[in-house]
Amino acid sequence: MANTRTVTVINGDGIGPEVMAATIRVLEALKVPLEFEHKDAGAEVVAKYGTNLPHETVEAVLRSGVALKGPTGTVVGGGLASANVGLRKRLDLYSSLRPVRSVPSIKTRYENVDLVVVRENTESLYTGLEHIIVPGVVESLKIITEKASTRIARFAFEYARKNGRKKVTSVHKANIMKLSDGLFLDCTRKVGREYPEIQYEEVIIDNMCMQLVKDPSRYDVLVMENLYGDIVSDLCAGMVGGLGLVPGANIGERTAVFEAVHGTAPDIAGKGVANPTALMMSAAMMLEWLELREESKRLQDALNTVYGGNQVRTGDLGGSATTREFTDAVIAAL
Ligand code: NAI
Repeated sequence: MANTRTVTVINGDGIGPEVMAATIRVLEALKVPLEFEHKDAGAEVVAKYGTNLPHETVEAVLRSGVALKGPTGTVVGGGLASANVGLRKRLDLYSSLRPVRSVPSIKTRYENVDLVVVRENTESLYTGLEHIIVPGVVESLKIITEKASTRIARFAFEYARKNGRKKVTSVHKANIMKLSDGLFLDCTRKVGREYPEIQYEEVIIDNMCMQLVKDPSRYDVLVMENLYGDIVSDLCAGMVGGLGLVPGANIGERTAVFEAVHGTAPDIAGKGVANPTALMMSAAMMLEWLELREESKRLQDALNTVYGGNQVRTGDLGGSATTREFTDAVIAAL
């Protein structure tokens, strides 16, 4: 096929292979000009490779520039860092992008939620740089740099510009962490001046949480450092029905990894009942990133049609459809 692009596919653990197979079926039904190169990562491949992130998997993503990934399990108490953290570091996937939109017929306390959380992925307290100073006293280091803060701010504003978004809100706690969050704020403010058509505002993180649960329609694109982003992105996912219904991507200068944000769901793995929606939505995001906009829209519209129909639902949403039945319905709606 002319102009066929390679996508690295990482099935992951638990329900990963099931939701991935469902998503690939839908992509094939869409006849996208993509070919899929399967590579391993996760807890279940450690015995084979001696690591949860084989070198050849990282090399494959560097070559293709884009990966679609299922959830990977973490070995609790083991010495290995998670495959996700490894991928983010090795590929310098500095931004986490999580669009959060209401899903038709999924009743929550909120209607018409349409937000995007842009989270800095490489620094802040989330890096876990901590040590014991003396027994009973632990120091945890929060690193904020001008370089990373400027880069994520630019990512957020560029995203807003390209996607016709009207406002970027910089979320911080600079009233208390005057130097670190103060630097983050300086950077987002400075970058914001280069985008006069986009409204810029600043909101303190605790107030942000309250405002979001009161009225999420006040916000558009939110940009913040790593730990705040970790928390706020799940809070926003909860507004539209939970982690099973939101897509995610980790994006760097040269590579991007698209993945559902839920975990490996070991309790239902292998039963053929997992909900593949989040990975399918992540695949729709990937298609858009690859500039296959029409195909992306068809996939998103098909998911909306299935949810709008109020009939085909997997067990997590109170229905009885299997992964295959749900996928058949999406393919029929394409
Ligand atoms: P989890 O998201 O796997 O499961 C929480 C609950 O949600 C379970 O009841 C599960 O059955 C349900 N669930 C999750 N995804 C579902 C789906 N697609 N369809 C239907 N039900 C679904 O979270 P948990 O149990 O905390 O983590 C399990 C493993 O996953 C851990 O090893 C964790 O480290 C890993 N994990 C990996 C992530 C990733 O690779 N992006 C993200 C989060 C967790």
